[in-house]
Amino acid sequence: MCYAIPGKITGFEKGKVIVDYFGEKRYARNEFEILKEGDYIYAQGGFVINKIEPKEAEEILEFWKETFFNLREVDLRLSKIDGTSEASKKTRSILDKALEGRKMSPDDFLHLMNLSDEKELDYLFKVANFIRQKYHKNACCVHGIIEFSNYCINDCLYCGIRKSNAEIERYRMSEREILDTVRESVSKYGFKALVLQSGDDPFYDVEKISGIISKIRKNNAVLLFISTGEVGEDGLREFYKAGARGVLIRFETSNSELYSKLHPGDFLKERLAEIEAAKKLGFLVLTGALIGLPEQKNEDILKDIFAAKKISPEMYTFGPFLPHPRTSFSYAEPPSVNLVLKTIALLRIADPLGKIVSTTALETLEPKTARKKGFMAGANSLMLNLTPEKYRRHYQIYPDRIHEKETVDKQIDNALDDLQKLGRAPTDLGVRT
Ligand code: 5AD
Repeated sequence: MCYAIPGKITGFEKGKVIVDYFGEKRYARNEFEILKEGDYIYAQGGFVINKIEPKEAEEILEFWKETFFNLREVDLRLSKIDGTSEASKKTRSILDKALEGRKMSPDDFLHLMNLSDEKELDYLFKVANFIRQKYHKNACCVHGIIEFSNYCINDCLYCGIRKSNAEIERYRMSEREILDTVRESVSKYGFKALVLQSGDDPFYDVEKISGIISKIRKNNAVLLFISTGEVGEDGLREFYKAGARGVLIRFETSNSELYSKLHPGDFLKERLAEIEAAKKLGFLVLTGALIGLPEQKNEDILKDIFAAKKISPEMYTFGPFLPHPRTSFSYAEPPSVNLVLKTIALLRIADPLGKIVSTTALETLEPKTARKKGFMAGANSLMLNLTPEKYRRHYQIYPDRIHEKETVDKQIDNALDDLQKLGRAPTDLGVRT
């Protein structure tokens, strides 16, 4: 299984290596290997992950070559805009600006955010997908996530693993289990980027997690993202020293009043400071917000899009809020699939270069179809769940999470099947230089 195409080093520039992928030039930061021109490497998220033997690289490239160009053609065909949209004049004129890279006003964005007519939405999604294709070609980034503990000291109003939910079974994977799961994900399944996530669990403090990061990095070629709640600048620095290069931390909502209501005792300012600190330390940041929270308006979602853009993250992760029966919001309705797709499309228009994940929560909202819809509305990344099956169902941030009972093999098959139909290649060549 291969989630990255080997690239060939063709030169060095400003401390980065220049990598060639089927004639395309990309840049990657190298921290770990001694490299020279002509070497083959795997890169992920703009980092060199490891060097590979030329013979192996050439075999993989030979396998990929035909598939790669075939997929590109399918993608190109599916992302064409033929100019026959039935959208209103106003919508078309706004989307012309998006297509031409002209500045759009806040009112333009609000107009798009408020669209509800199917023909209008159809054109919005097509334009977003066109822009995705233009800047990212058919590359799709596939990360894996391992949820190693569902203990949590926080009491976020919307979250099923909040401390006051006494009805879920708590679990904590041992260090050995985490290391074994990582090893299998990397060497058996070929993942090049993994997220280690947990609730805010005091047992797994900065020291323990840093120890685990070091052990993982020593024995595996993988880009590691940490997602364990706020640990402060010093904690983040320890994670970086140990070898993590990314963090996944949503700000959940950019409305500070709503933020404090949802997170008793916590403040948006502190959350944003944590994200800022991570950026400063050099981490790749995956961030975003929840879509469709009670009391949230379309204007709030737009603000979330621009707050996220300001962070300039490696990847946007915006997923629907799904009500959990054991939380304060058991009464609430989830958002519509279209609201989530509009958010993805507007993110794509606001930041053509960013990666955008089609989330598990979106898939849960509409199993079988929504992931593909996300990909056709501007998304270009996905995350598969590698948590051991016996634990996965207990990581119940919301109920009936999709893929809860699916083996990793099955998840990979399904994902590759979806991607293939859309002409996407499960690769991460990176765009930001
Ligand atoms: N619905 C959707 N997403 C949720 N999360 C927590 N609770 C829910 C819910 N009810 C998300 C949060 C958090 C991530 C780990 O899970 O956005 O950042």
